[in-house]
Amino acid sequence: MKVYVDYASSTPVDPKVVKAMQPFFSTVYGNASSMSSFGVDAKKALEESRATIARFMNAETNELIFTGSATEANNLALKGHAFEQGRTNCHIAISTIEHSCTLNSAKWLEKQGFRITYLPVDKHGLLDMNILEDMLEDNVTLVSVIHGSNEIGTIQPLEEIAKICCKHNALLHTDAVQSFGRLPIDVKHIGIDLMTINAHKLYGPKGVGALYITKNCKIQPLIHGGGHEFGLRSGTENIPGVVGFAKAVELREEEMEHEAECLTFLRDKLMRGVLEIEESYLTGHPTKRLPNNASFRFSYIEGEAVVLDLDIEGIAASSGSACSSKTGEPSHVLMALGLKPDEARGSLRLSLGKYNTLEEIEYIIQTLPKVVKRLRALSPIEPKPKIRPQTGKIKSA
Ligand SMILES: Cc1ncc(COP(=O)(O)O)c(C=O)c1O
Repeated sequence: MKVYVDYASSTPVDPKVVKAMQPFFSTVYGNASSMSSFGVDAKKALEESRATIARFMNAETNELIFTGSATEANNLALKGHAFEQGRTNCHIAISTIEHSCTLNSAKWLEKQGFRITYLPVDKHGLLDMNILEDMLEDNVTLVSVIHGSNEIGTIQPLEEIAKICCKHNALLHTDAVQSFGRLPIDVKHIGIDLMTINAHKLYGPKGVGALYITKNCKIQPLIHGGGHEFGLRSGTENIPGVVGFAKAVELREEEMEHEAECLTFLRDKLMRGVLEIEESYLTGHPTKRLPNNASFRFSYIEGEAVVLDLDIEGIAASSGSACSSKTGEPSHVLMALGLKPDEARGSLRLSLGKYNTLEEIEYIIQTLPKVVKRLRALSPIEPKPKIRPQTGKIKSA
């Protein structure tokens, strides 16, 4: 059996999305800046796509700019804000559980002399609102908080965070890559000033992202050239990508609610099944989590070994974030929850999507205990067998 439970890394492209993109490779291939009819058709597709995606988040059409990825959009949000404010005014606060592209943008800015503050989270990965209030007293100009964590699935209370930001005159940027299209997000209602999204986490193509920027918010571009995307991101637009992004969003409109219900059911079954394994723990919040994220840690073994063994059994998963798993370092997100490096190394993320079935979830529940047992038998740090304290209850990290 082949089971893909790595949807947080990337999703298969929906065949309807592929179909919508096809003409923009073969017949409508003009440059959207050209004056010919080919250019006009491409421009029309670009603007219609922008309108579809903007509408889905309740933004205005000219508040959305396309980028080459969410990584680029996060870089643009932080660095664009920093360059607009200048070193003397700029003060950015980010959470300690941001995706590496936000974290490393902030660290880079810090090296250039910009002021960065790191906001701690509790053991479930939730920001502490009292600490946020205190920190915002110190003239913070931008707060950047990931909405749904790519590693542990925890969902931050954005409305509450937005209110606190507004009270202190700080802008709010959120990385909504994992939540957009999985949960309803109304940027105006919540009070979000900047928001990062991409297509490949919602059954769309890779290599296309977007940044929502509220009308009155000013940022500097990072890429200079012909002044595309309202002067904020020069470069010939990726029309097939953008059209695919919009089609994927259109499908989300139809599928999101029902999918969230199905995935929550499968996720909860998976969580209960996996937590039957001795000394396994849930990471992230037990209930305030993305409907498709089930993340764990196992004592005495390395998450990467679990991923490789699962792959042999036909199950594709990740040990934490696909992007940080190259470094060999324990995940900064798990360390931010207060775990020790050895505890953080035993992490496994199973992230579900619309093509998963109950049969596949049952296969994982049968297979994973065997994999963990096999690896523990090889582990030099495996302890004497212990009596399990409890069963059936969710044990948190
Ligand atoms: C939360 C989050 N932010 C940003 C990114 C980066 O997205 P992209 O692959 O479009 O650069 C990812 C993808 O892994 C993500 O999960």
